[in-house]
Amino acid sequence: MKIFAYGIRDDEQPALKDWIAANPEVTVEFTDKLLDPETAKLAEGFDAVNVYQQLDYTRETLTALHELGINKMSLRNVGTDNIDFDAAREFDFSISNVPVYSPNAIAEHSIIQMSRVLRRTKELDAKVAKHDLRWAPTIGREMRMQTVGVIGTGNIGRVAMQILKGFGAKVIAYDLFHNDQVEAEGLYVDTLDELYAQADVISLYVPGVPANHHMINAESIAKMKDGVVIVNASRGNLMDIDDVIAGLDSGKIADFAMDVYEDEVGLFNVDWSNKEFPDPKIADLIARENVLVTPHTAFYTTKAVLEMVTQSMDASLAFINGETPKIAVKY
Ligand SMILES: NC(=O)c1ccc[n+]([C@@H]2O[C@H](COP(=O)([O-])OP(=O)(O)OC[C@H]3O[C@@H](n4cnc5c(N)ncnc54)[C@H](O)[C@@H]3O)[C@@H](O)[C@H]2O)c1
Repeated sequence: MKIFAYGIRDDEQPALKDWIAANPEVTVEFTDKLLDPETAKLAEGFDAVNVYQQLDYTRETLTALHELGINKMSLRNVGTDNIDFDAAREFDFSISNVPVYSPNAIAEHSIIQMSRVLRRTKELDAKVAKHDLRWAPTIGREMRMQTVGVIGTGNIGRVAMQILKGFGAKVIAYDLFHNDQVEAEGLYVDTLDELYAQADVISLYVPGVPANHHMINAESIAKMKDGVVIVNASRGNLMDIDDVIAGLDSGKIADFAMDVYEDEVGLFNVDWSNKEFPDPKIADLIARENVLVTPHTAFYTTKAVLEMVTQSMDASLAFINGETPKIAVKY
């Protein structure tokens, strides 16, 4: 049983080495290189590949694996939109992903950012760094005084709601499909418009599917309270960022925390420290005192990385043993 893992980062190595030690019957080799038609050759003689990359899994790449007799591919992440499924179907690929690795990682990050904007930590930290230790005018707001509107009560939204309750915030929620527990607690409002009208703070936990594209736009922002706080750690395409910037300019949106950005591929997870951003909008957002930008790091915790490596390697092994892991992608 032989698994070849691509794109292994330094922070993934401890989890991978633990998995190898726990599965001595399996031969595992790995590289930090991404999987492409050229590097596919490294997997020659292996039974399955294990991968994580933004780079597309193209027909050429899948053909290269197919020619080596490999048709088992386990992703260490959720997203499968960069796979050529027509080619995968043609070559009868078994594919798995890791849909749930640690909802707490993203939920915690979103609420940490929410509490940071409410306590104006960006301004306060900048003042302290300049040795200005005065309080005013950097006064904060308390979580328990906020009505927080949670849009999407799936895996991550529900953990965020638990954390918010610990803070004593008044939580209201909206979802197209009601969760029994949230329903029993009577937290749902019937329409998004009701949530927009009542919430002091709005946090998004819905997928970036086409139906949700730019759901936060000039029209929806107009329905929100004046001075609303918005948090988006879900998907960049949920927001029309130009409309959000206009809302920040007018003061309609008091504060904004974003971990995702519609044009983040090629921008996030790159060191721009000695270069100009290719996108002036991100520079503008980062420069604002009332905007917190993190580069899609909500998921990035030791626990999440451990789950992504372990679950995907278990799935690779299951495929080799002729089993269908629970996390197999149905396509
Ligand atoms: N920033 C990060 O690092 C990171 C990491 C993982 C996931 N995410 C994102 O977090 C979001 C939530 O993920 P999850 O695992 O909780 O998903 P999930 O599938 O468990 O829950 C999503 C919920 O949204 C609801 N929903 C969908 N469209 C809706 C709409 N228009 N209005 C109201 N509700 C709607 C669904 O019914 C579902 O209950 C996703 O966008 C995901 O891509 C971000």
